[in-house]
Amino acid sequence: MQFTLEHTDAQSKARAGKMVTDHGVIETPIFMPVGTVASVKGVHQRELKEEINPDIILGNTYHLFLRPKTQILQQAGGLHKFMGWDRNILTDSGGYQVYSLSANRKIKEEGVKFKSHIDGSMHMFTPEKVMEIQRVIGADIIMAFDECTPYPCDYNYAKRSMHMTHRWLDRCMAHLDKTPFTYDFSQSFFPIVQGSTYKDLRIQSAEYIANAGAEGNAIGGLSVGEPAEEMYAMTEVVCDILPIDKPRYLMGVGTPINILENIALGIDMFDCVMPTRNARNGMLFTAHGTINIKNKKWEDDFSPIDEMGTTFVDKEYSKAYLRHLFAANEYLGKQIATIHNLGFYLWLVREARKHILAGDFTSWKNIMVKQMDKRL
Ligand code: GUN
Repeated sequence: MQFTLEHTDAQSKARAGKMVTDHGVIETPIFMPVGTVASVKGVHQRELKEEINPDIILGNTYHLFLRPKTQILQQAGGLHKFMGWDRNILTDSGGYQVYSLSANRKIKEEGVKFKSHIDGSMHMFTPEKVMEIQRVIGADIIMAFDECTPYPCDYNYAKRSMHMTHRWLDRCMAHLDKTPFTYDFSQSFFPIVQGSTYKDLRIQSAEYIANAGAEGNAIGGLSVGEPAEEMYAMTEVVCDILPIDKPRYLMGVGTPINILENIALGIDMFDCVMPTRNARNGMLFTAHGTINIKNKKWEDDFSPIDEMGTTFVDKEYSKAYLRHLFAANEYLGKQIATIHNLGFYLWLVREARKHILAGDFTSWKNIMVKQMDKRL
């Protein structure tokens, strides 16, 4: 993978760049729609490509390993072919999903033993096994196997866990060296900074991760319930240490405001279930604030879903119609809301990129943050 920095903002640490992989160009900052089980929930691949147009989407090792299972993905010729998506894919390692299983897993030095949420069967993830699975799934960017700590997290636990994540990183890298690519394109590997909300641990972890010399670097363990200010403080500390000439990925973040604030701190890549999950609950993100489309106030509002929206659903359907679809529990309501929200998130990061390149990112960001912090 090649990463070129095109411009760094003068008043903040925001960057505009370009990543090039065997599946094409990724312009940064980028938001990656989440397609956990080989499907961005509620959006057809054709709509995703033509209306939302992301350069990259996410898949998840934990989910794909359990279903359809690694063997099926290998027979299909990898995840791109299996799901009919010829652009970039990143797979998360399962470190976060396994953490979410809480009662149904046991973490040890060797790896994590866990119980499938699908059929209760027992499995073991080790750093080595997770690298092998990600080779077979065949994403363009694959992630280190880590432990995502909860919030709040006891200092001693966070420290022990961070050191284990570092040892797991060494095992991931040693194993990848012995495991060739499964398909005829290359894969880039990203390690993950941990350290909870402790500045000294974050510094130590960022130095360790920077030293690994990977093609890109990620920050994990944030957006797990801590106040936004603590998240920003950790991002800032870590971005000061991670190499300038490699892409930086903040995992699982966040609201539109979180995204803009973290772009200002030097983050290039984001993913989050929020635009898709919240859409299915009737929450729409817009440049002027959030809308709960289930609210009675929209019952006879025949104005377009979003006058400034960039996808076809924004202009073709009214708020009253979308509210009706939610009231009637029609699938189409969730689909329309999902297309709107993903369209908005991609618009937001593209606008951020434009403003970084134009040199007025900070003033634009400050206006947007104020504007979006409203309930309509
Ligand atoms: N997604 C959100 N946070 C995390 C994290 O800390 N680790 C991993 N692997 N994925 C995440």
